[in-house]
Amino acid sequence: MGGTPVFALIKVNLKETINTSRLPKHIAIIMDGNGRWAKQKGMLRAFGHKNGTKAVRETVEACAELGIKNLTLYAFSTENWNRPKIEIDTLMRLLVSSLKKETTTLSDHNIKLAAIGNLNALPNKVHRELKEVIAHTKDNTHMTLTLALSYGSREELVNAFKEISNKVKNNIISSESIDESLINNHLYTRNLPDVDLIIRTSGEQRISNFLLWQIAYAELYFTSILWPDFTKENLYQAIVEYQKRERRFGKTSEQIN
Ligand code: FPP
Repeated sequence: MGGTPVFALIKVNLKETINTSRLPKHIAIIMDGNGRWAKQKGMLRAFGHKNGTKAVRETVEACAELGIKNLTLYAFSTENWNRPKIEIDTLMRLLVSSLKKETTTLSDHNIKLAAIGNLNALPNKVHRELKEVIAHTKDNTHMTLTLALSYGSREELVNAFKEISNKVKNNIISSESIDESLINNHLYTRNLPDVDLIIRTSGEQRISNFLLWQIAYAELYFTSILWPDFTKENLYQAIVEYQKRERRFGKTSEQIN
């Protein structure tokens, strides 16, 4: 991939453009609505998940083409383990087959794959395949695609606090040295910047235990599109909306301008 120019205006439609010098550095997506999409078509939920993988592919490619540096996808939450076994098995099978199928696509686009979550809870086959693709793409630099798998933000924070308190107990660090950056460095996402834009599809307007710490200043974007229908144009629309917002980070509008 040749890399996106530092400044370019990409025409989204007759009225709107994306300014590539002000792209979100990190987009996170809650891919929701696979089940409802399938139900609307009189099909099984598995059909929705299968078509969800096509939307994953299109979104990853669109982000890479635009020049988004970090994309994080909520693919399986800690709570998703409570779904029927047959659905969990389908999702795990889809993950393995997508990873196998897309390794070359990732490399062709110079995309590095990463994963966050309690990866040890994943079936061996998934864990093994994941580790292979992560190793295979580790030197890629154009974009980092992070899959949140068996991920829960509260669990991530509990683990971080446990690790930090152990370090204090063993005199490795002092309690005075605990600050935001130290906590950040104990999260699964330690190598990623804060999320700038979080997108949730399917009309639900909640965060569902996803990146609670990391979205402190993120812009929230909700769309009623069901995930399997999510296209490149829908992604562009979310970015256009993001670029219209004034991000003040607690300052006044005058200070920003
Ligand atoms: C939410 O829809 C979606 C999921 C729990 C899984 C997301 C998985 C994929 C898109 C496929 C595999 C992913 C990758 C990265 C290859 P839902 O089942 O909750 O839908 P519903 O709310 O309509 O029931």
